[in-house]
Amino acid sequence: MPDAATLQSDICAALEQRDLPAGLFAVDVRAECASTNSTLLELAESGASSGTVVVARHQSAGRGRRGRHWVSAPGDSLTFSLLWRFAPGTSPSGLSLAVGVALVRALSSLAAQATPGAIVPAGALPALSLKWPNDLLLDERKLAGVLVELVPGKPHAAVIGIGLNRQLPEALPAELRESAAAWPYGTAPADLLATLLLHLAQVLEQFAGGGFAVLRSEWQSHHAHQDQAVSLLDELAAPRQGICRGVAPDGALLLETTAGIERVLSGEVSLRPARP
Ligand code: BTN
Repeated sequence: MPDAATLQSDICAALEQRDLPAGLFAVDVRAECASTNSTLLELAESGASSGTVVVARHQSAGRGRRGRHWVSAPGDSLTFSLLWRFAPGTSPSGLSLAVGVALVRALSSLAAQATPGAIVPAGALPALSLKWPNDLLLDERKLAGVLVELVPGKPHAAVIGIGLNRQLPEALPAELRESAAAWPYGTAPADLLATLLLHLAQVLEQFAGGGFAVLRSEWQSHHAHQDQAVSLLDELAAPRQGICRGVAPDGALLLETTAGIERVLSGEVSLRPARP
């Protein structure tokens, strides 16, 4: 990955080539920060505008869902956060799932025009799928994670953090390496980011107009566990087993159990395919 200054100018050039309203995004590339989400939450509290993007070549304390770390060596993953201010009263339910739809659209379009020399031939469609609530999988392994956080006191302003593996860090523990994937198309980081932002802008506009409900069937068409047996692990309660019946219009997971269909909110739950 190029240094921060080169990346900054590459990203500006890549954004100019896309069909985007001028000034929609203001991108700030940092050589290092603790967490792009934390940095952007601070900027948001001091009035940063919608469309502000913080990108870090390296995060020293990248954060994931459920208090986990996002592990990456400098340049190994694309790590960035986007601030989006919705109209007051907009419900953020299902926003991290909507972001997953944008990731699939963006990466599918990049795969279709992959550069010569990529590990995977141009046009070969990658096996991308979505795992509720916030993971993007490639060949059933985690390629990217999404961490959506609301700006304190401003429930309609969201910081959308995305980490996407370009290569797997040496320091990644073996048990995580087995279930992790890296983007195999050799896309330049600036093109990767500009394409993701283009599709995020489109999806966030749809979300602003109709909530997650308008993206629900597209999300389900990429759902990794649709109609499959799963276990839901919860730190505070016994595991629950059932058949995954997709998601509700507000993004809740629909789990069919012997007691009927249960709605599961993202909270502290982790989903695993059930063992046969
Ligand atoms: C998860 O898989 O639990 C979510 C991972 C989200 C990681 C990204 S990297 C950019 C942004 N900044 C952070 O500290 N976290 C998110």
